[in-house]
Amino acid sequence: MHRAVVLGTGSCLPRRVLTNDDLEQMVDTSDEWITARTGIRTRRIAGDGEQNYQLASRAAEKALEAAGVSAEEIDLLVVATLTPHMMMPSCACFVQAEIGAKNAFAFDLNAACSGFLYGLDMAGKYIAATPEMKILLIGSETLSARMNWEDRNTCILFGDGAGACVLTGAKQRGIVDCCLYSDGSLWKLLYMDSPASRNPDLLIEERNGCFLQMTGRDVFKHAVRAMENAVVDLLNRQQISINDISLIIPHQANIRILSKLTERLGADQEKVFINVDKYGNTSAASIPIALDEANRQKRLKQGDLVLFCSFGGGFTWGSMLMQW
Ligand code: COA
Repeated sequence: MHRAVVLGTGSCLPRRVLTNDDLEQMVDTSDEWITARTGIRTRRIAGDGEQNYQLASRAAEKALEAAGVSAEEIDLLVVATLTPHMMMPSCACFVQAEIGAKNAFAFDLNAACSGFLYGLDMAGKYIAATPEMKILLIGSETLSARMNWEDRNTCILFGDGAGACVLTGAKQRGIVDCCLYSDGSLWKLLYMDSPASRNPDLLIEERNGCFLQMTGRDVFKHAVRAMENAVVDLLNRQQISINDISLIIPHQANIRILSKLTERLGADQEKVFINVDKYGNTSAASIPIALDEANRQKRLKQGDLVLFCSFGGGFTWGSMLMQW
């Protein structure tokens, strides 16, 4: 059977850097509090010419270049995002036009912070059926557009950015296995309202604005437990141990979640890729940005086992094993 293998990666971060000191001027917080509770020191905020699809397109172009694949060769283009700049057409259609991927069919996928992992799993299944397919998968967010910049509980955590990869079929390497989960019953712990309905019968009461809202403490507990269980399920299914993994690329939510997860899995800290200090939580973009950085830093060697895990609004969560 053919597996989905990554041919090339790319990423794009907005120019503007927002520091903890900057946030001190905006809400009642401090660099010390943010650093101690989250490990985040800076995050990027999109500006002029950096709409979601534009960040996504720049990341895609870098991934295509690295893969040695032209935009016209792409058969399927998927953008994992929860912050498209328009509700319709999809961000993926804007990217298609921007980069000239005229032979692709294109759509968005929303599984919040797990979107890229869900997208990888889906790409793996398309490729198992049609190995010659070339798929461009992007995770891209402009969360800054959906932040309540007066809410210190949330606005310190998130950032903007995009990451991408090009996938096709291979026999010896690629996606080995994946465990995905959702629990919609807990949605109120982490959600983002939609714009107000034009149909009065469909108005949602207690609307606080089209912002991201979160009960941080509960999300923290669920995130650690869910990612741990997802990884353990995967390792058990593959009959391997955490020590067999060369690099773990988790969703970059915050450093305390990642430290707890590392500890509970008994993993070597050196094998956990971390860049949350620089970019904060970029939701669906966090894993592909980290993957691109790890790749460009030459931390991935052919044959290495790479483990991904994620957690996000929905709740959605999961784990994936890939042989690089
Ligand atoms: N600066 C200073 N104080 C802040 C603050 C900020 N930015 N945000 C919250 N506080 C205050 C709270 O108001 C509270 O004050 P009080 O005790 O006077 O009421 C106090 O700090 C403790 O708040 P709490 O929410 O219990 O803190 P915490 O230790 O749980 O840390 C988070 C808050 C958000 C950092 C933490 O819960 C977390 O990381 N949650 C997971 C978030 C996440 O990753 N979400 C995305 C998942 S994909």
